[in-house]
Amino acid sequence: MWTTVGLLLGAVHVAFAAVYLYLTWHHKYWQKRGVLTAEPLTILGTYPGVLADKSRSLILDVQEVYNKYKDQHRAVGTFLTRQPQLLVLDPALAHEVLVDKFSHFRDTVTSSFVGHNPDDRFVQVSPFFSAGDDWKRRRTESVGGLTPNKLKMAFTIWEQSGKKLLEYIERVRQERGDIIETRDLAYRFTANTMADFIWGIDAGTLTGAVGETSPFQKTSTDWTNSAFKSIIRFNKSLVAPFLRKVLRMRFFTKTAEQFYLQLTRDALRLRHSGSGSDRTDYLSHLIQLQQRGNTLTDAVGHALTVLLDGYETSAAVLYHMLYTLSEHPEEQEKLRSELAEALAADEHLSYEQLNALPYLDQCLNESLRLTTPIGFFMRICTKATQLDLGQGQVADLEPGASVMIPAYQFHHDDAFYPEASLFQPDRFENGAASVLTKRGCYLPFGDGPRICLGMRVGQLSVKTAILHILSQYQVEQTTKVPMDADTGLGIFLNGDVQLKYTKLKK
Ligand code: HEM
Repeated sequence: MWTTVGLLLGAVHVAFAAVYLYLTWHHKYWQKRGVLTAEPLTILGTYPGVLADKSRSLILDVQEVYNKYKDQHRAVGTFLTRQPQLLVLDPALAHEVLVDKFSHFRDTVTSSFVGHNPDDRFVQVSPFFSAGDDWKRRRTESVGGLTPNKLKMAFTIWEQSGKKLLEYIERVRQERGDIIETRDLAYRFTANTMADFIWGIDAGTLTGAVGETSPFQKTSTDWTNSAFKSIIRFNKSLVAPFLRKVLRMRFFTKTAEQFYLQLTRDALRLRHSGSGSDRTDYLSHLIQLQQRGNTLTDAVGHALTVLLDGYETSAAVLYHMLYTLSEHPEEQEKLRSELAEALAADEHLSYEQLNALPYLDQCLNESLRLTTPIGFFMRICTKATQLDLGQGQVADLEPGASVMIPAYQFHHDDAFYPEASLFQPDRFENGAASVLTKRGCYLPFGDGPRICLGMRVGQLSVKTAILHILSQYQVEQTTKVPMDADTGLGIFLNGDVQLKYTKLKK
């Protein structure tokens, strides 16, 4: 009996020791390479928020390390669970990694999340989740349908969506009053726009009954929620990547895949039968790709790449921007004057005219700076290289080590943006955004060859909605909504965004 207990206790000790060793094995990694290791270093790595649920959040953990080391160091060594990762603290070094030394940091940590489960076939088509030559091919295929010229030709889709948005707002006001939950409104707008752009269908989100959730929106919401949760699950799996294969982890849910497969099949069939054959949209681009050898799986994968951020991220940017403008009536009024002046000269603004409105661009840039929906990016070193960390210190990076660029932290640092917590669109006067991006401290869409490929789509959606709303309504705050780290990837408005829409007198 005692022998059995003794053996069991021994086995438990050995198991604990094995887990401990497994988790801490690399902890001298940075020290051996002459790079400072960030403290505190726990058994769960530098950011316990990756593994611990709810109580902590990765983006807040990164903030702590950033605050502690940013003034003295260009970068510090960290551990993402047990994986060595260099946290960049100097924007110039971020620029070096993203742009100048791109060939050494070509892949992203997210691109290591797929490939282990062949069933998860649509996600593998997305450049966001691809590596190496696959990434290059997928990116080239995807961006072909999102060039300024293509968007210009598809611009009526956004114009129509803008009109439907106004009609929907009016119906809500008549049925329910002036206060409208604006998160819901933003998702309705991006769902409508993306369904029309990608599949040529009316998603029914702005044309159906007030408050009704159409099947397209329900599936898209469930699917994007689960996709973002998947990113978090996969970040956790960095602690033991072999588990992905063992557990057959996947990104996209089977139900959603079936829905979008059927939708894409039907939309292609309809278009082939001649319906909408004169349209330039993403569906027409998918057909061109099929003519060059793309399969139906490729078509669905590309469609979902656009939907993920075209629906979710763009809506998040939109309702944050509306909320911020509702908090800043003076800036809202200044923006409205710019819009009114442009509309007085030409009632139907063209794609180029919309993109040439300087204050609208400044307000969007400033809103993106404050919100930064994708708060950090992680690159994998794909070719050995050295990074100069200053003070005679050089980091030798080997393939496999990763680097984190903390865009959110740069955007909220008073050193780069005096009074960084304030909404001041004038910071972005005279094309300052591109100068700041080149300095590495303004990265709402990343930078370099892996810069967001849907940047123009996202900007177009947000600008179109703002143009329509502000030219018809005064938007006011009714309740303050706190900003909170929600999923661990970013810091967002946490709660309903109830704004008051008062029709402007003409
Ligand atoms: C305003 C909304 C958007 C924001 C703030 C945003 C932000 C970003 C950021 C920061 C990255 C870089 C991540 C990295 O470097 O690892 C990125 C990449 C990407 N974005 Fe966006 N995005 C937005 C809209 C879109 C849209 C509408 C699409 C699709 C049309 C899209 C598709 C992608 C893809 C596919 C990548 C990966 C590119 C690659 O790795 O080559 N995004 N986005």
